[in-house]
Formats: sequence, C-alpha cells, structure tokens
Amino acid sequence: MRHATRTATLSLCLFFTLFLILSPLNSPAADSGKKTKSSYTIGMSQCNLGEPWRVEMNAQLKAAADKHPNLQVVFKDAQNDTLQQRAHVEEFVSAGVDLIIISPKEAQPLTRPVAKALEAGIPVIVLDRRLIGTNYTCFIGADNKKIGHAAGDWIKEKLGGKGKVVELKGLMTSTPGQDRNSGFREAIAGSGLEIIFEADMKWLEPDARKEMESALARFSHIDCVYAHNDPGAHGSYLAAKAAGREKEMKFVGIDALPQEGVAYVRQGILDATFQYPTGGAEAIDTALKLLQGEKVPKEITLGSRVFDKETIAQGGRELK
Ligand code: FRU
Repeated sequence: MRHATRTATLSLCLFFTLFLILSPLNSPAADSGKKTKSSYTIGMSQCNLGEPWRVEMNAQLKAAADKHPNLQVVFKDAQNDTLQQRAHVEEFVSAGVDLIIISPKEAQPLTRPVAKALEAGIPVIVLDRRLIGTNYTCFIGADNKKIGHAAGDWIKEKLGGKGKVVELKGLMTSTPGQDRNSGFREAIAGSGLEIIFEADMKWLEPDARKEMESALARFSHIDCVYAHNDPGAHGSYLAAKAAGREKEMKFVGIDALPQEGVAYVRQGILDATFQYPTGGAEAIDTALKLLQGEKVPKEITLGSRVFDKETIAQGGRELK
C-alpha cells in the first residue's frame, strides 16, 4: 500500500516536472497570466558593442521595438566577456523578464544558462551565433556555411582557380567562425588555391592586422586574404598597405554594413564583401509573436548578398 502511494507520488512529480520543462518551449503565453499582460519586458544580452555590426544590431532591435509601445527592451553589453554574458542570462531569469534575446559570444559556455532560462519558462531567441544543441525557442541568423562557400567560389573564380591565400578566421569557439571556415574549405577543395597562412583573429581588427603582419613577413607573395568579417579584412588591408603591398592581393570580407564593408568596396579597399544581416528586426517580430502565444519556426534563416565591383551599383547580388 505504502509502496503504491510512493509510486503514485513519484509519477505525479515526474508528470509535473515534464510539464514544467516542456510546456513553455514554443508557447509562452500558454503559461497562465502572460496572455493577459498589457506590456512585456525583453532582456537583450549583446556579446559586445565594440564592433559596428553589433551597434547596428542593437539599433535595429531598438527601432523595431519602438514601434510597439507595449514592449520594453533592457539592453546589456557583455563587453566580449563570456562570464558577464552568463550572468546577464541569470539576471534576466531572476528578474522574471517575459523573453530573452541573446547574441552569444561563444557556443559552449552559454548553452547551459539558456537551457535554464527555458526551464524557468522564459522563451529565448538566439541571434547570429549558435549554441550547442537545440535548447532555445528560436534561432535567427544567416547561413554562414553558405556564405563561406560563396566566398570560396568567388575567390576561386577571380584568381582563375589557383593562388596563395591567407585565411583570417573569426573566433573559432563561435559557430560563424567554424561555418565560414568549413564552407570556404569545401568550396576550394581540389582547386589550385593554397592556404599559406591561417590564424584566429577573434573577429577583431587589431588582431587581424597583427596576424597579417606575420603573414607578410613570412611570405613574399600573397594573392588573396579571406577574412571572416570586414573588420578583419580591413585590418589585413592596413597591414599590407603599411608594407606597401596592398596592390599585390585581393581582400574579401563578410558583413557588408553600408557604412563599413560596402563603403570599403566602393573605395577600392576591399574587393568583395558578403552580407551578414543582423536580424534585429526579425528578432522583435518573432518576440512579439511568441509573447502573443503564436507558434514560430525553430529556425529563421536570413538571406545574404555579395557586393563587389560588378554588383555594387545594383545593390549587390543575392546568394542563391
Ligand atoms: C561582430 C561580428 C561580425 C560577424 C559576427 C559573427 O561581433 O564579429 O563582424 O559577422 O560577429 O557572429
């Protein structure tokens, strides 16, 4: 008899635990109270604000949110510090925000805090860089593997299938760095392109410049620099220019902000840049849907365009 009661209690506990874990995943408004709320607070954790691309992401989030008087967004800047960013997520959970948007610095260390937020019933939108696994509500970002592949095809074509390439990689503990590398390597496999130098410049222009100085010192001829972002491509250009060698090679980057990468192509500093949209407006749109109890896709994939000499006048060419 006592055994039967214990088993029943255990099953009940298990049922409620499962219910608590599973119910808030895609439908926050399903948990009581939220449906009737007249205003919502969104916590946004940005991994850093040192780069123009991230300033632009926050500006787009703010502009989109400002159109909805019932939305309040609390912005936090982790200053490129993973521990600070973990603390942000934990603070948002204790403050009981209605939804979290995170653009994580790196995948592994931020996976658990986000999973815990979900367990607490708070939907989480992950923007731009991925986490490990699928413990989030919705991921929004462009296809970095496809962009890396397109950059590889572009370089292959412009160099006539052969040449010496420097690859300056984004932070390799972040998924865009990994995907921009693997997509690129797939595209150039079996061609006459040779990677003569590669380094992790962690997305940072000063690091890219320093790495490029080493590449220039070691190699008397370079045909192209493929950098995983425009600040990296610009840093490598500055190093080559300081060595009087910028005309020797092509420079290819990723991001294509109008005031940054696209302007560099127009000025003849970069030869190509591939657009990486920030997804700010789409994140607010998705947040609103979730807060109103609507279902959203698990993944929203944003498009990309290439801007080079041939396509810049018509606003770039869409990647197919
Ligand atoms: C900004 C940035 C962008 C890049 C993105 C990748 O921090 O480095 O330049 O495209 O992050 O997550």
